[in-house]
Amino acid sequence: MSHFPPDDIMDKEMASQRIEVLTKQINHYNQLYFQNAQSAISDYDFDQLVKELSELEAEFPHLKKDNSPTQQVGESPTKGFTTVWHKYPMQSLSNSYSLEEVKAFVYKAKKVLPNVHLTFFCELKVDGIAVSLLYKKGKLDKVVTRGDGKQGDDITRTAHLIDNIPLHLKGKEFVDEIEVRGEAFMSKADFQALNAQYKKQGKALLANPRNTVAGTLKTLDPELVKDRKLGFFPYGLLGEHLTITTQEARLHTLVQLGFKMFLPTSRHCADISEITDYIAYWQAHKKHFDINIDGIVIKVNDIKHQLALGHTAKSPRWAIAYKYKPESVATTLKKVRYQVGRTGVITPVAELEPVQLDGTIVKRASLYNIENLNHLDLHINDTVYVEKGGDIIPKITGIVHAKRAPDSVKITFEKKCPSCGQATLQPNPQAPLHYCPHTHTCPAQLKSQIIHFASRHALNIKHLGPKIIEVLFDKNLVKTPAELYHLEAKALEGLAGFQQKAIEKLLQSIANSKKAPFAKVLFGLGIRHVGATVAGEIVAHFPSIDDLIQATKEVLMDLPDVGEEIAESVIAYFKEEENKIHIQKLRNAGLAFTQAIKTMPFAQSTRLRKKTFVVSGLFETFSRDSLKTYIKANGGRIVSAISKKVDYLVAGENPGPQKIKAAEVFRVQVIDENALRAMIS
Ligand code: IVH
Repeated sequence: MSHFPPDDIMDKEMASQRIEVLTKQINHYNQLYFQNAQSAISDYDFDQLVKELSELEAEFPHLKKDNSPTQQVGESPTKGFTTVWHKYPMQSLSNSYSLEEVKAFVYKAKKVLPNVHLTFFCELKVDGIAVSLLYKKGKLDKVVTRGDGKQGDDITRTAHLIDNIPLHLKGKEFVDEIEVRGEAFMSKADFQALNAQYKKQGKALLANPRNTVAGTLKTLDPELVKDRKLGFFPYGLLGEHLTITTQEARLHTLVQLGFKMFLPTSRHCADISEITDYIAYWQAHKKHFDINIDGIVIKVNDIKHQLALGHTAKSPRWAIAYKYKPESVATTLKKVRYQVGRTGVITPVAELEPVQLDGTIVKRASLYNIENLNHLDLHINDTVYVEKGGDIIPKITGIVHAKRAPDSVKITFEKKCPSCGQATLQPNPQAPLHYCPHTHTCPAQLKSQIIHFASRHALNIKHLGPKIIEVLFDKNLVKTPAELYHLEAKALEGLAGFQQKAIEKLLQSIANSKKAPFAKVLFGLGIRHVGATVAGEIVAHFPSIDDLIQATKEVLMDLPDVGEEIAESVIAYFKEEENKIHIQKLRNAGLAFTQAIKTMPFAQSTRLRKKTFVVSGLFETFSRDSLKTYIKANGGRIVSAISKKVDYLVAGENPGPQKIKAAEVFRVQVIDENALRAMIS
């Protein structure tokens, strides 16, 4: 028995199904973005999904769920950070992509407030990470991320080092609490310089400035923040008893308080035609601006009008974002190639007819993962749209279906590893990652494992780059890292590119690598999710591999940087017989699987009493935290900045260049970890 005519039932049923699909997709992309810092879809396409869901929910309100992604902003709190409640919720803005939508926003605001003279303040929408600065009696108290909008992570430890976040406000009138809202960003130039350095070092390139900022703020590593030169773009001032009555005046106040402002980039607009001019101006000029902007924000200028307009559960009714569509260009898809990473993850890459985009020639586009490949439904020779967005790696965002030849062949992933030809796995049907599980036989994985083992932060084997490894592997001379230690000059003689001198140097570097400390060897094993920092952390607590093999998941998770995923990965690694055999072979070759220094019990000695230390860089026999504990356990004091009161700078690999410079200026003695140990023993 139904009260609805059949058509309505159909509509409702279809809407319900579509809502379910959209909810799943949006949640999935949100999780990838916020938990894994991966953008598997362009911002534009993502917004389209959210828009479709919101529209369906508006049409069928009874189908709207309380936990719908349209009702949530941002991410959930991150492990290792203190959670802080926001005094004023950190909402997000509703997005628009057309002037019609902006006009509708202005029209609606005027309709709600018919008898007032509404004007607008237009600002750049900086593509970074939203942060809130809490000042108490003029002193920076806390820096907090947006989180889920209600509570965020306390990132004061890293964020207070950002240029343009004053530790003390100027002027005396602000004795109470105030909050400054804004966007932490990395300039285009600094991002490119960092990636150029990464390329030189053979490291994986960073995807875009925004993810880099997010990662930097969450490293818990103040040094990194300084090195990466983050900036802060303030756009809001909040407080209980503020008498400043407009958005424009509040931004001017921020200047008086000591913030460097980007005021010349914003504009007070009296009407829609001035807003349209502003949008057009920045559409044309944004590429010359050294900060990534993904749109502009239009705000009702008068604060009392803002209050009168209020907000919805998610966003204010007094502001709207106009988002620029990323530049895109059409080209032909030649084929899809599949790359197999060191841990077996398969990544599809589109090979394109070279095309000019945003000042560079684009030949390839990332397809991210198999799910995205399937979602795009690509055919050979398709005409595809490619865009760069904020990312350095271009992506395919759409297909010109009208140009598809009727007999064109659909590109499907065959669930076979492109390197070893064996069946792939998709361990979690919700996650789009396909793996080749043949870690010990798949050539692509074996080669990458050797490349990783020899790399700078692992065993640092000079003269053993990817090209040489490829030759050694293809000639069946080296199939695993352990076999490097059995290489003989005779086997290399006569190979193209191997002169006598080169052979000697290579063998010497391989021999030298036997002196590498346990932390580097552990990192070199290439255990999934165990980076150089985590390896250092593990070694500081498990001075021998035998201790580590015995460790339970719970014990591993007690380490500061180790979450469930890392702990499970470590346990799984040592469960595999092949890995144990490999470790034994490396051990037989003379590599270190123990660490001379044990974890430091507290209050060991008073030898460093009255001495003040700054610690910088990556250490061989300590994680940075355990080095600090070691200093404190022996009576020393740790501070973060060099000044004339500092006695020693303990510098590891890659110390902050500013620290080194400051140490010179203040004549602070620079020592390494061995010298520090010598001072104590
Ligand atoms: S005003 C209620 N102004 O855009 C939100 N936001 O979804 C008030 N953003 O992550 C935000 N530039 O951090 C505002 N000039 C600007 C902005 C801006 C960038 C970010 C904001 C948030 C997102 C809005």
